[in-house]
Amino acid sequence: MSTALITGITGQDGSYLTELLLSKGYTVHGIVRRASRTERPRIDHLTLDGAIYGSRLFLHYADMQDATTLRRILLKVAPDEVYHLAGQTHVGVSFEIPESTCEFTAMGTLRLLEIVRDRPRPPRLLHVGSSEVFGNPVESPQNEQTPFRPATPYGVAKAFAVDMVRVYRQAFQMFAVNALCYNHESPRRGESFVTRKITRAVARIKLGSRETLKLGNIDSARDWGFAGDYVEAMWRMLQHDVPDDFVIATGRLATVREFLEYAFSSVGLRWQDHVQSDAAQYRAADVQALVGDASKARHVLGWQPTTDLVKLVEMMVNSDLAALQSRRSSAP
Ligand SMILES: NC(=O)c1ccc[n+]([C@@H]2O[C@H](COP(=O)([O-])OP(=O)(O)OC[C@H]3O[C@@H](n4cnc5c(N)ncnc54)[C@H](OP(=O)(O)O)[C@@H]3O)[C@@H](O)[C@H]2O)c1
Repeated sequence: MSTALITGITGQDGSYLTELLLSKGYTVHGIVRRASRTERPRIDHLTLDGAIYGSRLFLHYADMQDATTLRRILLKVAPDEVYHLAGQTHVGVSFEIPESTCEFTAMGTLRLLEIVRDRPRPPRLLHVGSSEVFGNPVESPQNEQTPFRPATPYGVAKAFAVDMVRVYRQAFQMFAVNALCYNHESPRRGESFVTRKITRAVARIKLGSRETLKLGNIDSARDWGFAGDYVEAMWRMLQHDVPDDFVIATGRLATVREFLEYAFSSVGLRWQDHVQSDAAQYRAADVQALVGDASKARHVLGWQPTTDLVKLVEMMVNSDLAALQSRRSSAP
């Protein structure tokens, strides 16, 4: 049975990927950062399961800045496959902390490539790139040949990392690949992302809150998919015979306004009664509407998204409603 190492296992994608790999019989090792709290809400259902944790799932402390420890873990675990998901993932926040964004996302990836390169039998490595590398793109939809024109510190860091993976693949014949993922969401999406801000507010308002939800540019558009589908694509990429990069996207562009419409109407409310535009939340520079052409993934990997936007939004709203109801019913 195969052994996988995941960086970013506590994140949205890391948690879905762990479930997928465990269901396929893998032994999974994950890298976690030391934090003052021990809760890891996205994977606690797995780490608290005595039948899984310690026998097929293991966690190791490290940081993408800490090459010595990363090297030691790679040596000890000797994985067949490495899924590199860790990084500072918030595009807006990357304008506030550009240096650490580049340190974790760009240099962290280079560090990992160097460690993998030094292994006598290098494991297969998947790096999760981002549609943000296309920034203000020269064409739409974008595919694997579209030139990079990043417009944010996050996009620049990802462009560096994606190109470095390509360089190592070509120069050292490593099985190192990039999943060029467009936005993907789920009930486990970080709470500071706009989709989750919306679905959490919908839950609160449905349950009686009289707040107004303030958002930046609601005419911004994104290609939104479901994270569970995207980790399936990542796994397929590492099972393919040839190392190659793939765009992973739905190919459907939707505005924040449309997301609001689906989210509020799913609980019988009108978004116009509860949402206000807030110029202070506009980004210093925003990318243009990015939409991906995933036909290569469809033809070569047989991958396609299974969850459309309406279903995804409903899943997120229902999950936030259930979580809030359960918190309220267990409050003293
Ligand atoms: N979700 C999307 O829409 C999307 C789109 C394109 C690309 N991506 C990329 O896909 C990957 C996974 O995204 P996600 O949505 O799962 O992100 P996420 O929920 O924000 O998770 C990020 C993960 O990286 C870890 N991490 C951050 N800095 C680290 C460091 N210095 N050392 C070690 N671990 C570190 C975090 O650990 P803590 O729990 O300790 O913070 C967390 O486990 C990321 O590389 C992201 O940039 C995501």
